[in-house]
Amino acid sequence: MASNWTGELIYEGKAKRVYRVDNEFLVMEFKDEVTAFDGARKEHAPGKGRLAAAQTAFLMGLLGRHGIRNHLVDWDGDRKILVRELRMIPIEVIVRNYAYGSFLKRMPLMKPMTKFSKPLVEFHLKSDELHDPLITTDDIIEAGLAGQEQLNEIISIALRVNEILSDYMVSRGLMLVDFKLEFGFDKSNNLVLADELSGDTMRVLINGRHLDKELFRKGASAMDLVKSYEEMNKILGVPLNT
Ligand code: ADP
Ligand code: CDP
Repeated sequence: MASNWTGELIYEGKAKRVYRVDNEFLVMEFKDEVTAFDGARKEHAPGKGRLAAAQTAFLMGLLGRHGIRNHLVDWDGDRKILVRELRMIPIEVIVRNYAYGSFLKRMPLMKPMTKFSKPLVEFHLKSDELHDPLITTDDIIEAGLAGQEQLNEIISIALRVNEILSDYMVSRGLMLVDFKLEFGFDKSNNLVLADELSGDTMRVLINGRHLDKELFRKGASAMDLVKSYEEMNKILGVPLNT
């Protein structure tokens, strides 16, 4: 599909600009920027937008072939993806295979990188001001964000996504530590996987070394992060264009 997708800018977030194409589709443009700590650290990162868009298109495609309904329609070979517009649920669904990050902050009794007896699925409210607080399923139901059955479906999709991604990563010599998903509803009220899947939203290790945004959180430069996204794409077999 052509890369001259146009539309009205309807939202600018930390990682992407969102344009409305019509009443069905949106264009998401991945920015050449990297942020951490709820936007407190921010740097220009030339080339990152294209690499993260490529990762998202590739991994959403992989999940789609395994039967995971997701919003991806097309990738322009550069920084934009075309997606189906959804009614988003304002929660972040995090899946964890190993103890790391905010898990360790709330559960310091476990050693970093301990493998969990089974993958953990948790929910956080999407709110920069509140630093995306951990919330319970009861909180979500009481706030009317989703019902119990929908939450059960989200959990089962999240675990299936974890199996598919973890298996693929292992086949490439990588280790999937944890990742974040977002979901929305389409016009027929089906749950659909949305947003992005990239080094910004997953922790991926090769021989114990991060290839993901953790590098930037730990002080690496934006340029080094872009280099490691290039490495991640090469190892994953992500094509450089369509
Ligand atoms: P943030 O809002 O966290 O700074 P981004 O810069 O990634 O994040 O902005 C992308 C926005 O688009 C997010 O608010 C995300 O929830 C939303 N979004 C992702 N996929 C879809 C979709 N298919 N339909 C509507 N909104 C979406
Ligand atoms: O990054 P931090 O340690 O604060 O959070 P986490 O809860 O340990 O993050 C778990 C996973 O979700 C990591 O792979 C993060 O990259 C991802 N995440 C995300 O993509 N967006 C957020 N707002 C929070 C976490």
